Amino acid sequence: MSLKKKDLLGIKDMDAEEIGEILETAKSMKKLLLAGTKRTPHLQGKTVVTLFYENSTRTRLSFELASKYMGANAANITASGSSVAKGETLIDTGRTIDVMGTDVLVIRHPLSGAPHLLAQHVRASVVNAGDGMDEHPTQALLDLFTMREKKGRIEGLRVAIVGDVLHSRVARSNIWALQKLGASVCLAGPTTMMPREIERTGAAVFETAHEAVAGADVVMALRLQLERQKSGLFPSIREYSRFFGVDTGRLRLAKPDVLLMHPGPVNRGVELTSAVADADFSAIDEQVTNGVAVRMAILYLLARREN
Ligand code: NCD
Repeated sequence: MSLKKKDLLGIKDMDAEEIGEILETAKSMKKLLLAGTKRTPHLQGKTVVTLFYENSTRTRLSFELASKYMGANAANITASGSSVAKGETLIDTGRTIDVMGTDVLVIRHPLSGAPHLLAQHVRASVVNAGDGMDEHPTQALLDLFTMREKKGRIEGLRVAIVGDVLHSRVARSNIWALQKLGASVCLAGPTTMMPREIERTGAAVFETAHEAVAGADVVMALRLQLERQKSGLFPSIREYSRFFGVDTGRLRLAKPDVLLMHPGPVNRGVELTSAVADADFSAIDEQVTNGVAVRMAILYLLARREN
């Protein structure tokens, strides 16, 4: 098994077969992770560099650990501590990393399309770890993996995605990924945070969280992305959480065996009450664990492709 393309830039241009291949490989990687040794030679001699222009805890660390568990050389660069702060361009920074012998370059950038641009200028495989408001493909893949593990399937699931859809690359990647695998997606959020013409993706849009959550197998809450917003998209955080926050009452409308997800970081009391975030039906911790397995699979498949 290997991937067709040099880079992993977005779910939009992947097919169900490629997605399935990554999820299957991630299953084996999770077994390795749980086996406890956390050491495989799969990426021996390979170098993985993460280049992050935005903050991250989960995504960056999981790529780093995934690389290390598979025996790769792993290094990290953040914009604030690098020559980016001295005015170097993205392409020059990328090429510098490339010519040091990097095999996989993982990038997060505030501008949509930055990973695509970089990919055209480096020999290394580029992985998009979040570009602006565009895509976060590895997050969607770990979300699919978690749903499949918990529900046994993706096809036929009704997945409600609730909150700040406008600013969420997680939502966009999940909308593509879920529908490619046969799930239906129901969106709800303040009208000011719902992208225009999002229905054209095939997702159903509702004005209230109640309608989206009703009968859902999975409810995915999104973080309120205050750092990406100009003011005035909603009256107050209290109002947002009253209408679009997920709590026990709202979840009662979903299927009795509902699975609750959130990409993290969670604003407790805003998108989710602590009671539901920490409940048995919450998959938030599993999403994080699965993030390591899925990124191991992606790095492995990309590195193998090079051989
Ligand atoms: C997401 C991101 O950065 O897009 N976080 C993540 O990778 N788990 C979601 C978010 O920041 O809200």
